[in-house]
Amino acid sequence: MSPTNIKKACSLLNEGKLVAFPTETVYGLGADASNSSAVQKIFELKRRPTDHPLILHVSSLEDAMRHAYFSEKAIILAEQFWPGPLTLILEKTNLVSYDVTGGKESVGIRVPSHPVAQELLSIFGKSIAAPSANRFGRISPTEAKHVQQEFGSSLFILDGGACNIGLESTIVDLFNGPSILRPGAITEEQVSSLLGPLVSSTTPAPGTLESHYAPETKIVLSREPLLLASTLKQKGLSVAIIPALEPNTHAQKLYHILRELDSQEHDLIIAEPAQAIGLGIAINDRLTKAAAPKD
Ligand code: TXA
Ligand code: MG
Repeated sequence: MSPTNIKKACSLLNEGKLVAFPTETVYGLGADASNSSAVQKIFELKRRPTDHPLILHVSSLEDAMRHAYFSEKAIILAEQFWPGPLTLILEKTNLVSYDVTGGKESVGIRVPSHPVAQELLSIFGKSIAAPSANRFGRISPTEAKHVQQEFGSSLFILDGGACNIGLESTIVDLFNGPSILRPGAITEEQVSSLLGPLVSSTTPAPGTLESHYAPETKIVLSREPLLLASTLKQKGLSVAIIPALEPNTHAQKLYHILRELDSQEHDLIIAEPAQAIGLGIAINDRLTKAAAPKD
């Protein structure tokens, strides 16, 4: 990434403007977390309800410790998985405003590993509040051009290429819990092997409910996609298939493929679920949400 672009992003953030940036999971829509009116712009641009908390992105564990109270379990997970695709829900300190947490006493916090995100955070020198850079209820962007499709060219975007992981971070709740609020590339087995048994969450993270990652085209899940497609094609329907790929590739390409197929105006997209282990759990979680009926 050119130093000029990072500098420009930092000046925009300092002026209270929004900047989109790549992370290893998906692109984020960032604001200076200490600037209330900048944070407000995220909710306006995304058309997201203001009680849906944002994730605080920080450059290091040391930095994170100024924004949240770390229990022993939190330190164990942070040391193992940061920088990386893990968000911890912890009790916030006074440094974090309620605008970021949607009025909660807890904060979602993570240290991203993408080199551009790292560079941005270390040069900006403050924490960045950022949700995924998509309109509320739409598929998260995994490429700069997806962000542009969502918000147009007036938004400044740091282009760091296609995101490596392609699905949003695993959210581990250590404020309540310990429990997994959103499955991701860091698996439940990895977390429980360090913390012991987890409790199943009764309060899913706001914004992780039902049809949250939905394209316009109707999606169904099927373990026999070819068979179903041929039956439907005989009835004159235009049908596209997303086959289950090798799990890392499946996750990395899923949102890209969904966006491409969604733009092709098929009657139906048939998605083959992944094997329900490891990363496959996160893939199936997003597929199920994409297939959930819209109201
Ligand atoms: O991979 C990711 O996590 C990406 C990149 C940009 O970092 N971010 C992301 O943000 O997916 P967003 O806003 O699209 O999803 C964050 C989720 C939301 O479901 C939100 O409700 C939950 O995290 N969350 C944030 N803070 C929380 C808190 N204090 N308690 C419970 N859930 C929280
Ligand atoms: Mg999101």
